[in-house]
Amino acid sequence: MRIKPSKKEYQGEEVTIVWQAHKCIHSEKCWRNLEDVFRYGKKPWVDPNGASGEKIRQQIEQCPSGALSYIGQELKSEEEEGDLKATLVANGPILIKGSINFMHPDGSTSLEKNPVICRCGASANKPFCDGSHKKVGFQS
Ligand code: SF4
Ligand code: FES
Repeated sequence: MRIKPSKKEYQGEEVTIVWQAHKCIHSEKCWRNLEDVFRYGKKPWVDPNGASGEKIRQQIEQCPSGALSYIGQELKSEEEEGDLKATLVANGPILIKGSINFMHPDGSTSLEKNPVICRCGASANKPFCDGSHKKVGFQS
């Protein structure tokens, strides 16, 4: 079963933050490092004016899954794009840097940019990671 993609934008004075919940792998980097912007447990959980635009952009670039991005980041990463790269996250998924065309069992196809691939086997959104590796205590 594929989780329905969602995309929300939070417009601030210096930066517009884009949030795609279905891509989050719960690394916790955002709210642990910039809690005035990524306000875990609060509503709305993103305050785009909680820090300077520069600080927010730097933090978003640390998001390993691409669940967080900002308007304009796409252009920057396209300039840096080269070969496909795969990073195995300790006790977590595989982060692919680059675009892959997936062919699904039902015959449909989808082009995924920087997909995050499950390697624990517990995701309800295979082949993509949905953060379940934390719940099942995956170790590798
Ligand atoms: S994957 Fe990105 S959005 Fe999800 S918790 Fe980690 S840094 Fe935050
Ligand atoms: S690696 Fe994240 S759900 Fe399997």
